Amino acid sequence: MNQDELKAMVARAALEHVKPGSIVGVGTGSTVNLFIDALATIKDRIKGAVSSSVKSTERMRGYGIRVFEASEVERIPAYIDGADEIDHRGNMIKGGGAALTREKIVADLAERFVCIADASKLVEVLGRFPLPVEVIPMASAQIVRRFKAIGGDAQVRANVVTDNGNQLLDVRGLAIKDPPGMEIEVSLWPGVVEVGIFAKHHASVCLLGTPTGVKRMDF
Ligand code: 5RP
Repeated sequence: MNQDELKAMVARAALEHVKPGSIVGVGTGSTVNLFIDALATIKDRIKGAVSSSVKSTERMRGYGIRVFEASEVERIPAYIDGADEIDHRGNMIKGGGAALTREKIVADLAERFVCIADASKLVEVLGRFPLPVEVIPMASAQIVRRFKAIGGDAQVRANVVTDNGNQLLDVRGLAIKDPPGMEIEVSLWPGVVEVGIFAKHHASVCLLGTPTGVKRMDF
């Protein structure tokens, strides 16, 4: 099975985590695109979705799935999203698709975070994948210096403006041994809009696509 087939397998498996009649939180990325395709087959059994990006919103509307604003929703049972990396405690790096801030906002509304990922995303220590950080442009040079001081090489992602009108930094060279601690520290730096460490909002469950089938990990 290739990586796309593994992604498709977990995308279909995630349908079991969609509560009938509910509003479902929907992430962003290639795995989520496949989840949206699967969700379209049961669209008459859900009330609608809350989306984490313009791209996912457009894809769902294309299928006739009703998309609610996050501000219209108080609580949702499940948020389904991919990850760039996930460790054995359910901590994740996210933001490869530049949607980390809205992803964390929708994840915060959810009772459960259902991570869907192919097996290549499972790591011992987060940080091989460059850590995405959404920043206010005025602060980016200072934030780059702050990362340098802790061993990170941060670079502005070229030609990318987030859905919120900000810049993205990708930070290489970090071995994130304390995801909750680093998430809090970086979040406190002035000008950081959101950091792509999902430790407070870690996965509740991960459906991992492996050549032998879907492996479920609960956290
Ligand atoms: C987008 C994300 C995605 O979940 C992450 O990049 C994984 O994407 P893919 O499913 O394409 O591998 O965080 O901001």
